[in-house]
Amino acid sequence: MRRAIYPGSFDPVTNGHLDVIQRAASVFDEVIVAVAPSVGKEPLFTLEERVEMLCEACGSMSNVRIDSFSGLLVRYAAAQQASVIVKGLRALSDFEFEFEMALMNRRQDEGIETVFMMTNAEYSYLSSSIVKEVAALGGSVEGLVPKIAEGYLKQKLGSSLCTYEVGGPAGQSGLGRRSE
Ligand code: PNS
Repeated sequence: MRRAIYPGSFDPVTNGHLDVIQRAASVFDEVIVAVAPSVGKEPLFTLEERVEMLCEACGSMSNVRIDSFSGLLVRYAAAQQASVIVKGLRALSDFEFEFEMALMNRRQDEGIETVFMMTNAEYSYLSSSIVKEVAALGGSVEGLVPKIAEGYLKQKLGSSLCTYEVGGPAGQSGLGRRSE
């Protein structure tokens, strides 16, 4: 059984993430979508909310399981008997950071391979950060995130339009590094 882990913050899950999950599910026997707590990133959604959005959005994918983890990713992967970490690649700008993480993960555990999957070109510009910025400013994110995430974004940002600090702590505006 070839089991793969697709890790990320998923704050919130986007249609770009779902595209990668579908691709991974067609290549591996089982895919575990593993939600990280995002220490130091001040996520908009709680871990439970991010897991719930993924459970709903991936409900029809029979070989996809949603879980959360903390600590080292390679330790979690080994505990799950997964030999592959799947990462999505959108643009060249993703490469350097992903390359660094893949090499560090390999250094920690040589038995776990990182596999990169290209997202559909349609989603190559899409990130959780840009979705949150648009939603916070009252723009439409229809077709960019699953329906459940759209609802959650409205719920979290709708009543406090423009008060969500995009890109991190106060004083730092803009998108910052892309967030999965
Ligand atoms: O969606 P993100 O925020 O880009 O995902 C980053 C994530 C969660 C995949 C990464 O931060 C991670 O692997 N965290 C687990 C802790 C760990 O193993 N760190 C060392 C990685 S080199």
